[in-house]
Amino acid sequence: RSAPLVDRFARAVTYLRLSVTDRCDLRCTYCMPERMQFLPRADVLTLEELYQLSRAFIARGVTKLRLTGGEPLVRRDMVDLVRALGREIGEGGLRELTLTTNGTRLAEFADDLAASGVRRINVSLDTLDRERFTRLARRDSLPQVLEGIQAAREAGLRVKINAVALRGENEDELPDLIAWAHGQGHDVTLIEVMPLGEVEEDRFDHYLPLDRVRRALEQRWTLTPSNARSGGPARYVDIAQTGGRLGFITPLTGNFCEGCNRVRVTATGQLFMCLGGEGKVDLRAALRSADPEAALAQAFARAMGEKQERHSFAIDRAGAAPALARHMSMTGG
Ligand code: GTP
Ligand code: 5AD
Ligand code: SF4
Repeated sequence: RSAPLVDRFARAVTYLRLSVTDRCDLRCTYCMPERMQFLPRADVLTLEELYQLSRAFIARGVTKLRLTGGEPLVRRDMVDLVRALGREIGEGGLRELTLTTNGTRLAEFADDLAASGVRRINVSLDTLDRERFTRLARRDSLPQVLEGIQAAREAGLRVKINAVALRGENEDELPDLIAWAHGQGHDVTLIEVMPLGEVEEDRFDHYLPLDRVRRALEQRWTLTPSNARSGGPARYVDIAQTGGRLGFITPLTGNFCEGCNRVRVTATGQLFMCLGGEGKVDLRAALRSADPEAALAQAFARAMGEKQERHSFAIDRAGAAPALARHMSMTGG
C-alpha cells in the first residue's frame, strides 16, 4: 500500500473521476459546440493504462471510482474496463464503482454493468420533452435515453437523474421531471451550469441559481434537509409528497469545496486536482516512463501539494469568455 493522497488542507482524496473518452454522441449546448474538436485517439490512454492507473489510485486509498467522459459508453472497450475494475471491489479496495452517462447506450450495457459490480449509476437528463431534448442535446435521442434508464432499472441498478437547471429551457419543467423520476424510484440531482469551455450560447442567458428553484419547489412540496451523502458535492432533501430524494449541486450559489474528496483524470491521463482550476499533473508521462512506480509516486506527491482550496466559478455577462477554456467533456465534470 502506497502513501494515501492527502492535500495541504488535510483533505483525503478517496474519489476518482476517470474520464475514459472525451467523445460524446450528444452535443448538449451548455457542454460543447456542434463541431467539437476531439482528441486524436492515439493520445488517449489504453485500456491497460486506465486499469493500471486506477490500481495506483486504489493503492493510495481511493474507494470510489466513477467513470466519466465525454460519454463513457461510446468507448468500445468500456465494458472490459468495468469488468476488470469490478474485481477491485471489496475490502481494502473499491467500495463503489460507478459511472455517469447520458444514457443513450445504456440499454445495451446495463446487464454487463450490473454483472461487473456496478450498483448505481447517474444518468444526465434535463428534460422529458422530446423537442426540448433535441434542442438541448442537438440530437433526437430522448427515446433511447428513456429505454436505457428502464433497462438499468430492470438490471437492478439504482439510477440517479442529473439535470442541469436552465432558465428558459427546463425551469418550468423541473417539478414534473422530479415527480416523474421519484415516481420511478430514482433520486434526482439538480446542477447549476458552470462556465467551462467554449460553447455557442451565452451560458449567462440560461443560468438558474438553485436557491430560486428551491423556493419554487417549497411552494409545492415539503422539503426536509437530509443527512444523506453520496460522496459527491450534492446536498440532499427528502420530499414528503413524492417520497423521493432531491440533491442540489451549487458551485455558484453555495461552495462545497471544504469537503472536497476528489480528483479527476482526463482520457489522456492528465490529473486535474480541481474541476475549476488549470493545475494538472501528467500521469500518462509517469505511466510511460522507465520506472512508472517511482514516477507515479512523485507525480501524486506533487499533485497533492498543488491541489487548490476551492474553485471560483462565476457566471457574469461581463466575462463573456468562459472562466476556463477547458471543456467539461475533458474532465468529465
Ligand atoms: P454522486 O456519487 O451521486 O454524489 O455523484 P457526483 O455528484 O459526485 O457525480 P456526477 O457525475 O453525477 O456529477 C454531477 C455534477 O456535479 C457534474 O456536473 C459535476 O461536474 C459536478 N461536480 C462533481 N464534483 C464536483 C466538484 O468537485 N466541483 C464542482 N464544481 N463540480 C463538481
Ligand atoms: N455545467 C454544469 N454541468 C454540466 N454538465 C455538463 N456540462 C456542464 C456545465 N457546463 C453535466 C452533465 C452531466 C454531468 C457530468 O455534468 O449534464 O450530468
Ligand atoms: Fe455529452 Fe454529457 Fe456533454 Fe451532453 S453534457 S454533450 S451528454 S458529455
